[in-house]
Amino acid sequence: MEDTYKPEALPWRAEKILRKNDMGGWTKAAPNLYPHQWSWDSAFIALGLAHLDTRRAARELQTLFAHQWKTGKVPHIVFNSDAPPHSYFPGSEHWACAAASPDAPPAPPYTSCLSQPPVHAIAALRIWEAAKRRSEEEIASAWAFLKDIYPKLLSWHRYLLTYRDPEGSGLVTIYHPWGSGTDNSPRWDAALAAVEVSDLPPYPRYDLQHVGSPSQRPTDADYDRYLWLVELIKRAWCDETTIYESHPFLVKDVLSSAILVAANEALLKIAELVEAQEEDHTIIAAWIVRGRRGLEGCWEPELGLCLDYDLRADRPLQVRTVAGFAPLIAGSLDPRQLGVLLKTLDSPTFLGHRGLRWPLPPSTSPEDPGFNPRSYWRGPTWPVVNWLLWWSLIRADETERAERLRRTALEQLAKGGFGEYFDPFTGQLLGSADQSWTAAVALDWLSSESLPEVKAAL
Ligand code: DGY
Repeated sequence: MEDTYKPEALPWRAEKILRKNDMGGWTKAAPNLYPHQWSWDSAFIALGLAHLDTRRAARELQTLFAHQWKTGKVPHIVFNSDAPPHSYFPGSEHWACAAASPDAPPAPPYTSCLSQPPVHAIAALRIWEAAKRRSEEEIASAWAFLKDIYPKLLSWHRYLLTYRDPEGSGLVTIYHPWGSGTDNSPRWDAALAAVEVSDLPPYPRYDLQHVGSPSQRPTDADYDRYLWLVELIKRAWCDETTIYESHPFLVKDVLSSAILVAANEALLKIAELVEAQEEDHTIIAAWIVRGRRGLEGCWEPELGLCLDYDLRADRPLQVRTVAGFAPLIAGSLDPRQLGVLLKTLDSPTFLGHRGLRWPLPPSTSPEDPGFNPRSYWRGPTWPVVNWLLWWSLIRADETERAERLRRTALEQLAKGGFGEYFDPFTGQLLGSADQSWTAAVALDWLSSESLPEVKAAL
């Protein structure tokens, strides 16, 4: 596994992966394991593609937003009608009934009725920044893209802050672990344990044929609950109000909420660029304040981390994961709060753990009882999470730290390949190889050799 690539080979290898997974107007999340278009994958892919072709990057987001629901929701999966049979479960046939919802977009292609963290406005703004470094022609086309996508992004964020936050807390509610993007994280263990599964028909685990070992993926017990929750959502006809009233899994997700704050900051900049009406500026600015306030309420001083909140059990979820750094991602921390978070980051709970192959944050702290170094979001290191933290550190003026993280993250990819995730102790590639969003964030890192320039573009 060592010396997989020479660092100089990284850019063209990353580009090759994005081209190989390119389906025309959108990109498969991975060659075999994920043969459809995933929402937050596409956002990360777009910010990587921006370094190759800003128009193609814009198209990635436009294709996704073409399947936005009438409520403003951006579906977590848009299903590829040409995906090989038996490649992914639950596929379009399992979600076809979502198309019967009066809020659903025209089908086919079918979509799921879940969502994922809202990275899209951040990606849209980076496409604009990349275009500005190129030609007048690309600037004009990127501006037209921003003008087109702006109302869609606004409606997406409004959906999250209304349907997904009827309490006005500033925090996004998820009703399925898939909606967090961090499916089997121990963040959800306690809330899932309370979900009682009944009459679930047998189902296939196609995902297991695409990974080295089943231990790298969620367990059958996890899947039973995932599919049972899907079943309940389908029985509610994907109606948000009904789901909110009756669903057994309802959690305030601090990572999605923090990404939404950062995405709202990007949206505010886009609103200025496209000269949106003054009222929009006021609304978005208020969303940012509300989001930061909500996250403050989730702060757990003893852990030096932020915690998700189980609305059904009415209690915080006491688990040490990277999601706990949500306030860093949301940004604008005062120096004291920033200091506490960085102390947690450096401590043996995360980067200071002696067993780590690289000082990169494991998705779950090795000190947490839910930790497992090989299982998906229960411990492995994820390049996209490294990207989010890197980007947040730059925004927090922690440029040296950010640069260390970027170099280490690239070194990990040079040694380990463009994996979906990595064993934090051995550095072994896990999940899918040639994962699109890993290639995309690598391209972004490689294009960010000069930090002052990156900082100026934020
Ligand atoms: C999967 O299939 O593992 C996805 O994360 C669900 O969206």
